[in-house]
Amino acid sequence: MRILGIETSCDETAASVFEDGKVLSNIVLSQEAHREFGGVVPEIASREHLKAIVPIVRRALEGAQASLDSLDAVAVTVGPGLIGSLIVGIAFARSLGFSAGKPLLGVDHIEAHIAAVYIAHGEPREPFACLVASGGHTHLFLVERDFSMRLLGSTSDDAAGETFDKVARMLGLAYPGGPEIEREAARGNPRAISFPRPVLPRGYEFSFSGLKTAVRYFIDRHQGEISRQLVADIAASFQQAVVEVLVEKTIRAAIDKNVKVVSAVGGVAANSALRAGLARAAAASGLELLLPPPALCTDNGATVAATAYLRSRVNRDTSHFPLSPYSTRAY
Ligand code: KG4
Ligand code: ZN
Repeated sequence: MRILGIETSCDETAASVFEDGKVLSNIVLSQEAHREFGGVVPEIASREHLKAIVPIVRRALEGAQASLDSLDAVAVTVGPGLIGSLIVGIAFARSLGFSAGKPLLGVDHIEAHIAAVYIAHGEPREPFACLVASGGHTHLFLVERDFSMRLLGSTSDDAAGETFDKVARMLGLAYPGGPEIEREAARGNPRAISFPRPVLPRGYEFSFSGLKTAVRYFIDRHQGEISRQLVADIAASFQQAVVEVLVEKTIRAAIDKNVKVVSAVGGVAANSALRAGLARAAAASGLELLLPPPALCTDNGATVAATAYLRSRVNRDTSHFPLSPYSTRAY
């Protein structure tokens, strides 16, 4: 089954051709226009998607040496995401599918993040605990063998990626903040500042707003003394606090739920400190760790196509695939 996957839920315009578990092409354009604003500006995002969607899809088809005719379906992200951005992808996918006479499959963005595990590691033989940590979500799931998922917990305030973005902005770093913080942190001391670890007693809920505020207060208290080294130390200490919480809860979920495999996906799972922390903790607890490569953790079209593929294997009737955009959803 050959599927064209299209992703426009936030600030990546992305397309991929995917065939029976294999990625034939995966083209991602990260919009540069938001860098100076310290976050995604929805109106700008939609306009940038409009400009990029045709060339990106064309490059994905060419990269896979696939004609429109050779496709079995077109899959597109329908939510959660920015409504204006989603509409561009859906309208384009709908017209393309209609003109080429191909079925159109709507895909959930969080499921797509989880599908990265299947692309990178094949079909997991066991249920697994999966952390989805992105700009909009910090969700912990138990994923069953048939690609069905049960939410164990999520953030009660900011998402992990959003916290990276906001702290980066406080430090005068560009958007997206995650990679910027990671780069600064490499020169800093993760034990220089003791920021709070927001490990809530309640099950698998996360909370990052207290940590964000602690960083804000620290910066305010040290106005005028923020050297390059202090920026690096703040970045490293902040990153360490986020990593400890994400690792602790993810590993605890696997142990509590008695599963032997853990995984992490979403943009924040591209972070090398988080990857190293998970690797150490998983090994210490005798758990297998499935970590897709960073390019499959951040937003892309291959995971969209893979989700449609996995979903249509569970239920061959494709009429249940939704096509209206949504900004949020309860899992
Ligand atoms: O999954 P994603 O590409 O898009 C959303 O669905 O939101 O995630 C983007 C988020 C941004 O907040 C970005 O700062 C964060 O993931 N991110 C990172 C890293 N790369 C991207 N956070 C920490 N370290 C990174 N290396
Ligand atoms: Zn995402």
